[in-house]
Amino acid sequence: MADLIHIGRRPQPQEAGGLSHEDDWKQASPARIDTALQHALGKGAGGWFVLDASSRVGHALQRFEVAGRELVAWRGPSGLLVAPAACPHMGADLSCGSTRDGKVVCPWHGLALGEERHGAWAPLRTHEDGILSWVQIPGIEPLTDVPVHPSRPTHHIAGVIRTDVRCEPQDILANRLDPWHGVHFHPHSFARLRVLEESPESILLRVSYRIAGRVAMEVDATFDCPSRRVIVMTIVRGEGEGSLVETHATPIDDERCAVIEATIATSERGGFLAMARSSLIRRVMAYFIERRAARLWVEDAMYAERTFALRQGEFETIRQRPEALRSRAR
Ligand code: FES
Ligand SMILES: [Fe+2]
Repeated sequence: MADLIHIGRRPQPQEAGGLSHEDDWKQASPARIDTALQHALGKGAGGWFVLDASSRVGHALQRFEVAGRELVAWRGPSGLLVAPAACPHMGADLSCGSTRDGKVVCPWHGLALGEERHGAWAPLRTHEDGILSWVQIPGIEPLTDVPVHPSRPTHHIAGVIRTDVRCEPQDILANRLDPWHGVHFHPHSFARLRVLEESPESILLRVSYRIAGRVAMEVDATFDCPSRRVIVMTIVRGEGEGSLVETHATPIDDERCAVIEATIATSERGGFLAMARSSLIRRVMAYFIERRAARLWVEDAMYAERTFALRQGEFETIRQRPEALRSRAR
């Protein structure tokens, strides 16, 4: 695209050996996307679910729904606590209570609950990875000691968004396993996007993303799914090499899903380390990172909700009613 003005370090042209010039709609084969999705869904997630950015979890009493379970989160003397939200006495919603001495106090009759089990009530295992807070829910899948997430750059600036979408986690993954929609559905963010290599395990693409108008940065990036509930984009060549976008999908119930997306930016440029150490610069950059991510997720939520609705059979589709549609077209 001749009218783009590229800034920053670009990948080498010869590294684009497998660049495809086929039309995007031809490359975006439903069968190819589904093969990659099924590969991802075959992986475990250890029973771990992302709640939100650690900076937003548990500083005040908070209620979460995860996989149909109602949970309450708060911070006790030894860190984050997440437990069933129903009080073991008569079922009051503990998230409407208060905290005292690191314990949650029930709003109905004042029972104080902390790290210790109380009858059938007990806190769940939690994990904090420095950016995100996780909870482990037993009884869904085989459990692991720690959640699966990619290794992250040591020096980084991170922004995290959370948005609720009417779909299942697989719709979130499927959206990102279809990079071919990027230029068409997000023209404000992507100027050019070509797939270089593709396998059920990983997609490598060259993307020019817009900084402002015609000014763009070109990088090579991979998409892969380390578990059945996360898809990760990693910049592997070009400006910001090593930066990640982790898109986590946490089911709320059978037809709602929370998308928690962490953008973890790094750079080898001199000065980045100093920027990453300044809390003011971190906050300003996180604001812009989160604003950009939220804008993309307005559209990608529409995409995921649409694929979910079609799978649920909420609309008549050509595939479902070929005869009826054919006769109507005659
Ligand atoms: S319902 Fe919680 S103490 Fe009674
Ligand atoms: Fe998208």
